[in-house]
Amino acid sequence: DGVDQRVSTGELPSWERVDERVFEAYERNIADDRGHVADYIPELAAADPAQFGICIADVDGGIHMAGDAEVEFTIQSISKAFVYALVCNEFGHADVGRLVGVNNTGMSFNSVMAIELNDGHPMNPMVNAGAIATTALMPGETHAEKWENVRTGLSAFAGRQLAMDGDVYRSEAGTNTRNEAIAKLLKSYGRVTGDSTGIVDIYTRQCSLRVSAKDLAIMGATLADGGVNPVTKQRVVSPIVCRDTLAVLAASGMYERSGEWMFEIGLPGKSGVSGGIVTVAPGKGALGTFSPRLDSAGNSVRGQKATAFLSRSLGLNIF
Ligand code: DON
Repeated sequence: DGVDQRVSTGELPSWERVDERVFEAYERNIADDRGHVADYIPELAAADPAQFGICIADVDGGIHMAGDAEVEFTIQSISKAFVYALVCNEFGHADVGRLVGVNNTGMSFNSVMAIELNDGHPMNPMVNAGAIATTALMPGETHAEKWENVRTGLSAFAGRQLAMDGDVYRSEAGTNTRNEAIAKLLKSYGRVTGDSTGIVDIYTRQCSLRVSAKDLAIMGATLADGGVNPVTKQRVVSPIVCRDTLAVLAASGMYERSGEWMFEIGLPGKSGVSGGIVTVAPGKGALGTFSPRLDSAGNSVRGQKATAFLSRSLGLNIF
């Protein structure tokens, strides 16, 4: 795409230039109308496909935005990254690695076959099976307590109280047979204990939390900043948890397209079907993008392109 490839020097980019680059990433991609809005969750089909927002949050707490960066949408699968971090913070590297796994399935995010081919192991926390198994590990005696811990934990990453979108939650909860089947299958293998339907309900709620591209950037920048939210200065998770979470995102954050993503962008990232992507530049900051039209793997088309442009022009690629 004619973008000069800057090779990362490990130095922070000069942030004065970042505002211009973010605007350029917006201008270069605003006219791209490829891809389709997700409709397997009926309420998501109502999204305005024209919306496009980009935000970079740096580890000094600076915010650089263009377009619809403060428009709210449901976080969907991007929640998986942050719930995983919260669970790692409770259980530690070894236990979570064993229970949920860290390897890419090479298959789509809601694959049942991937579970069957791996003796019931969910494989990694970024596909639905692994995310449901991870949510089941959240601290809390009751489902209500677990849900409250998810909501307050993700809110700490964002630095503000996040609320659930009731319409999207009800829409997904009413059509959620596949995730319920995945949870029951995991239960049959002893990978989820207790009430699997209740766990799927918490997972569906976590996916329905409303965020903006700006929130995603701040949440990602908290992982870039060793677990301290760079805006509120609150410590949310430990530095080791950030390292473990980013390693998992690098391997599986973009599902079966994770290799291509790493090859083009060279940063850990996580996508969601409502059109968000969060991408983390460790030690530097994070990008949040929002654009609802998706490619065939469920990743936002303009979000990927804007992120590739910013990774290249700012020299963020970690390799
Ligand atoms: O469980 C689901 O299918 C949705 N709540 C989230 C899926 C998702 O975001 C996959 N991302 N690309």
